[in-house]
Amino acid sequence: MGISSNQPLLLRAARGEVVDRPPVWMMRQAGRYMKAYRDLREKYPSFRERSEIPEVAIEVSLQPWKAFQPDGVILFSDIVTPLPGLGIDMDIAEGKGPIIHSPIRTLEQVNNLHDFDPEASLPFIKTILQSLRQEVGNQSTVLGFVGAPWTLAAYAVEGKGSKTYSVIKNMAFSEPAILHQLLSKFADAIANYARYQIDCGAQVVQLFDSWAGQLSPQDYDTFALPYQRQVFEQVKATHPDTPLIVLVSGSAGVLERMGQSGADIVQVDWSVDMADARQRLGKQMKVQGNLDPGVLFGSKEFIRDRIYDTVKKAGNWGHILNLGHGVLPTTPEENVAFFFETAKELKLAAV
Ligand code: CP3
Repeated sequence: MGISSNQPLLLRAARGEVVDRPPVWMMRQAGRYMKAYRDLREKYPSFRERSEIPEVAIEVSLQPWKAFQPDGVILFSDIVTPLPGLGIDMDIAEGKGPIIHSPIRTLEQVNNLHDFDPEASLPFIKTILQSLRQEVGNQSTVLGFVGAPWTLAAYAVEGKGSKTYSVIKNMAFSEPAILHQLLSKFADAIANYARYQIDCGAQVVQLFDSWAGQLSPQDYDTFALPYQRQVFEQVKATHPDTPLIVLVSGSAGVLERMGQSGADIVQVDWSVDMADARQRLGKQMKVQGNLDPGVLFGSKEFIRDRIYDTVKKAGNWGHILNLGHGVLPTTPEENVAFFFETAKELKLAAV
């Protein structure tokens, strides 16, 4: 696919074209800080309903699009959404996150995981992504996303979110063969799922390895990086033109390693100065990020200054403007609106 100016800004920037301003979107841009979302949540109290009934998930995905016209519209879903299709039952509890009813603790459980067929187990994803593409046309880019093997394994093994990751680290550091088997199965399933999202209309896919920052760099090299690579290699083999983004939360110690994952774009969090991130990753690597989500609790002047600062440090090529992680639940909507307006008025030559 060649360079073509009728394609949306974020997709062009993600493919390495020189653009007039950095495209902008926000992780978790659909969600609790929006009144429209909280209202809809009253009508559909279960997260699985909100994310798996196509009309509801489409409406939620489009709420920030209608309010702020971001350059990227992300599918409203969750990283654990594909787990039931692998035979791992789950719920998402309000204020807590994913709950896995029968956590994976044995090799037998790993071997009994189902063969994953995204088309059969996640038909709603196709309806949602196709509708989002139709709705935004060439005005915005539709992003899909998947969880990375380590992070999904953390939920599957711990059974819920964790502060210490003691159960999965117990497995990693005493029975690594079981965990490697699980990670490899997850990597194949996730690659398959990412390809399915692309076939359904996702134009960029982000891999969330949110909890890989809980690993020491040497353990990251053993349990996270090889499986990120396994996912990216398989997706690239069939879909070489779809830009892929990698995210790790708390990534300052493993930033260079993220650049070795096979991703096209590294999401940078705010523990790293954007100028340092550029140096550490090299000028060939594209970046996304990296304002502290807390900046959106500041004054308008402060928000504007931080946008300028980040864009200046990122330079005039290969940058997608975003927060360093998801927008926080109590963020004033007015400040989110200001963030998008300010970002969209930028001219790179003038910064
Ligand atoms: O960015 C977007 O707008 C897309 C929506 C999205 C959700 N989850 C919706 C959601 C995305 C990209 C995710 C990914 C996800 N889910 C990650 C990776 C991103 C990250 O933060 O690093 C992780 C670790 C999860 C697991 C998960 N699901 C957590 C930790 C929680 C939050 C628990 C809480 O309530 O604080 C969830 C639930 C969830 N997923 C919510 C949303 C909007 C909040 C619940 C709700 O709105 O009712």
